[in-house]
Amino acid sequence: MSLNCYSGVLAVCVMIFSSTFSFQQDQPTVLLLSFDGFRWDYIYKVPTPNFHYVMKNGVHVKQVTNVFITKTYPNHYTMVTGLYAESHGIVANEMYDPVLNKTFSLNSKNIYNSKFWEEACPIWVTNQMEGHKSGAAMWPGTDVKIHGVFPTHYMFYNESVSFEDRVAKLIDWFTSDEPINFGLLYWEQPDAMGHILGPEDPRMGAIISEVDDKLGYLVSELKKAQLWDRLNIIITSDHGMTQSSSERVIELDQYVARELYTMVDHSPVVAILPKEGKLDEVYEALVNAHPNMTVYKKEEIPNRLHYKHNSKIQPILVMAEKGWEILQNKSDQLLLGNHGYDNILPEMHPLFLAHGPAFRKNITKEAVSLTDLYPLLCHLLSVNPLPNNGSFSNVEDMLIGELPGDAHPICCEQAPYAYFVGVLLGSTLVVVFLLVFIKHLTYSQLPNMQVQHSEISQPLLQG
Ligand SMILES: *[C@@H]1O[C@H](CO)[C@@H](O)[C@H](O)[C@H]1NC(C)=O
Ligand SMILES: *[C@@H]1O[C@H](CO)[C@@H](O)[C@H](O)[C@H]1NC(C)=O
Ligand SMILES: *[C@@H]1O[C@H](CO)[C@@H](O)[C@H](O)[C@H]1NC(C)=O
Ligand SMILES: *[C@@H]1O[C@H](CO)[C@@H](O)[C@H](O)[C@H]1NC(C)=O
Ligand SMILES: *[C@@H]1O[C@H](CO)[C@@H](O)[C@H](O)[C@H]1NC(C)=O
Ligand SMILES: *[C@@H]1O[C@H](CO)[C@@H](O)[C@H](O)[C@H]1NC(C)=O
Ligand SMILES: [Zn+2]
Repeated sequence: MSLNCYSGVLAVCVMIFSSTFSFQQDQPTVLLLSFDGFRWDYIYKVPTPNFHYVMKNGVHVKQVTNVFITKTYPNHYTMVTGLYAESHGIVANEMYDPVLNKTFSLNSKNIYNSKFWEEACPIWVTNQMEGHKSGAAMWPGTDVKIHGVFPTHYMFYNESVSFEDRVAKLIDWFTSDEPINFGLLYWEQPDAMGHILGPEDPRMGAIISEVDDKLGYLVSELKKAQLWDRLNIIITSDHGMTQSSSERVIELDQYVARELYTMVDHSPVVAILPKEGKLDEVYEALVNAHPNMTVYKKEEIPNRLHYKHNSKIQPILVMAEKGWEILQNKSDQLLLGNHGYDNILPEMHPLFLAHGPAFRKNITKEAVSLTDLYPLLCHLLSVNPLPNNGSFSNVEDMLIGELPGDAHPICCEQAPYAYFVGVLLGSTLVVVFLLVFIKHLTYSQLPNMQVQHSEISQPLLQG
């Protein structure tokens, strides 16, 4: 072999390695954005040019079935695990774990107790275990150490930090020398005002317009940073919102004494822990108490809710009908808008839009489940999904290169396949090159080696 041939082989190796390396550098990036409490139909209430801009250039899903209970923490954890609440363990915003004898409640430090989160493994942990970097701006749970890990970059939860500051951090992380491939962004509106005003209040129009402005700001900042065209962005929410009223209040005090139970989670789906030995008494007192309230013993909770198999689900669950609130008495705070109700109700369903190089443009899809978001994210990030309750085949027709109803995820298998072939071919050529090169260098020492060989082989032959 001539030296030219060696360099030829070397050049091919370098080419293949650099192309696999640049595949890594041009790693697909994903931004997951949640506007808390953004009901699916808010984009039709008032002009929302920025949401419509994303829709026209991306994917819009009309009906997203979120998980029961339709509250913030359970659904945000579903988005990043693909699991129903009974399986990921964040079964409510307010919980009691009888095994740990510990409570979990939104406005308290006990949400930082890792044990509550570790029945599941969120996607940022998996993403980082596969060698990538994640960055989170206030997404629920991202400032908690879960399985010993925080996101590579994260912000301590502080509702006073502006949307603009959260966006600035994310753009820093996406454009740094060691960029993240996965960002999570959370914003408290329109949920916070939705609770105060109620979704039917005309003043909600201005709140929705403000959220549209926030989206517009994000898009323009991403364009400035030259990220917009290469980022896959998913804009969604945890749940919707429905109108309540002081005329639709059920007072538990009228039916059962407070001393008989602890109210673990609050309206509109009340989790009741009866005092020792009082289960049947509390159940009997409530079961036929009010026509707009359904009472279940834990084991009777309908299977379709996937809300039974967890020790943090309490012995009695009391569910209000849409628009009704369950209080102990009228001194308890009444919200004019609420969510948490049955996830079959369209009013509880969130918005879902997707945009970016991986997504088809200007398409509308009828329905997905919020659990399907996780396999979609794993596909976009090229990470291996953990066991989950979602289905990639429900979302693959959103993607470029996927045929609707095609049973085989072509795109899903092609990218890792090409990468694998590249690595295999590259390393084979390097090994061949090195073998030939070493052989060439050691050619003059070959007689020596043969002597050594025979010396080594002799005792073996004798043994
Ligand atoms: C549970 O914890 C509380 C204090 O938070 C304590 O008073 C109670 O005795 C504990 N119960 C059990 C069964 O350990
Ligand atoms: C929360 O953010 C606000 C606004 O940036 C800041 O003034 C405040 O000090 C922060 N609070 C904490 C506890 O960090
Ligand atoms: C509440 O109960 C009344 C009486 O049974 C019934 O007419 C009404 O439809 C119920 N409301 C809802 C939202 O289910
Ligand atoms: C509600 O219950 C609390 C605690 O028992 C009591 O202090 C309050 O007066 C009650 N309010 C009404 C409107 O009955
Ligand atoms: C989007 O699709 C609709 C029909 O599906 C079509 O009427 C409209 O012109 C398309 N818009 C763009 C910008 O391609
Ligand atoms: C959801 O997924 C988990 C993990 O694979 C599994 O244990 C559970 O049984 C699934 N739930 C349903 C209702 O299929
Ligand atoms: Zn809320």
